[in-house]
Amino acid sequence: MSERVLTRAAALAAEWLETLPERPVRAVGEAAGLRGALPEHGEDAVAVIESLAAAAEPGLVASAGPRYFGFVTGGALPVAVAADWLTSAWDQNVGLHVMSPAASAAEQTVAAWVKELLGLPAVAGVGLVSGAQMANVTALAAARNAVLARAGWDVEEHGLAGAPALRVIAGAESHVTVFNALRLIGLGRGSAVRVAADEHGRMRVDELVRVLGESDFPAIVCAQAGNVNTGAFDPLDEIVAACRAAGAWCHIDGAFGLWAAAAPGRAHLTTGAAGADSWAVDAHKWLNVPYDSALAIVADPAPLTAAMALTAAYLTTAGEHERNGADWAPEASRRARAFPLYAALRGLGRRGVAELVERDCALAARMAGRLAAEAGVEVLNDVVLNQALVRFGDDDAATTAVIERVQRDATCWLGGTVWQGRAAMRISVSGWQTTAADADRSTDAIADAWRALSAAG
Ligand SMILES: Cc1ncc(COP(=O)(O)O)c(C=O)c1O
Repeated sequence: MSERVLTRAAALAAEWLETLPERPVRAVGEAAGLRGALPEHGEDAVAVIESLAAAAEPGLVASAGPRYFGFVTGGALPVAVAADWLTSAWDQNVGLHVMSPAASAAEQTVAAWVKELLGLPAVAGVGLVSGAQMANVTALAAARNAVLARAGWDVEEHGLAGAPALRVIAGAESHVTVFNALRLIGLGRGSAVRVAADEHGRMRVDELVRVLGESDFPAIVCAQAGNVNTGAFDPLDEIVAACRAAGAWCHIDGAFGLWAAAAPGRAHLTTGAAGADSWAVDAHKWLNVPYDSALAIVADPAPLTAAMALTAAYLTTAGEHERNGADWAPEASRRARAFPLYAALRGLGRRGVAELVERDCALAARMAGRLAAEAGVEVLNDVVLNQALVRFGDDDAATTAVIERVQRDATCWLGGTVWQGRAAMRISVSGWQTTAADADRSTDAIADAWRALSAAG
């Protein structure tokens, strides 16, 4: 009964994936066909899928394709997409081991593999969540509880009202989702003391040490592996040492940057990361699994499960070698997102992950290098990872105009930012499909847009 509609969906998906590399990279419309009234009667499944695909088409962005350099956006490896289809077909709930021993086993395996790849402690607790923001929420909830427990306060039982003072310290360049996470766990978006950053966007350790020394209140320090603009890494080894000396919890937001640890040529950037107390890392960015997928990792599993675990008379507890997914992440019922992760990691292998990271970094450097050779074009950052910041004519308006032209042209897509008070184009190479030819073709489109703008005066 289901075969007809699944076969049709597979054909439509294959068509999308085959045409992805050569589609205009931006959306060409708004998918108005998806609006409309709720039908009174159910419709034929194949007709629904065909109509959904046709109506969505103009509003789809080729963000999983090889020339999308906006935000930090990975594609989806075919093997991970295929496993994602199975995940939907199997429709397993990973909240309880008893509801899917298979999903549970996949979570355990994936958790172990990711820790191994990133060089993190094998005993660390891992929650599979929807994205790095939720990984920050999850890890920082564990941090909050552990740090306050040390001060004699039980947050799980009593909440935050009346709790001892707690300090959160973040870098001037911490990602916005860290502050959203703080807001969501009741610590307040604006409560963090901000530590000055250097010209690359890295937290200044002398400033951190000074701030840590300002009071004896329990503290959580939010460090970063991979600045969303420059790709720069906070000096993690020194930050971890400063946190140790001050008895502070060290959390690292490594949404994309932590994957550098899996690539021998870039691993030095993450030196010291393994000594932190918690980490947030995305899988839907650089590991190229479909949305939504990330991991919250906490060195000591106890505060993570204390903050997340679910208990009720009708729920079953996990046995010694079993795992209830709900004990490690904020959701109760949850999609078995470990299956696509498992498939991606097996499909790539240790070498494949390293090659993916190295290749994207090399392509970002290649694009930056070629653009820097153009008259009037400046690369604003050291391209240490997969991120490049480019400025045109040393002028905000010109830079914004080049970005708009490139977006309209749709050979590639990238966005803008403001770096140290100056407008810049952001190039983020995070996809598995991008080749040197894609990088060169995109660089040509960017250079053409700049030349055309300069010629127009
Ligand atoms: C450093 C950093 N942290 C967190 C995030 C948020 O990730 P997500 O959108 O997966 O929640 C990003 C996204 O780019 C990021 O670069």
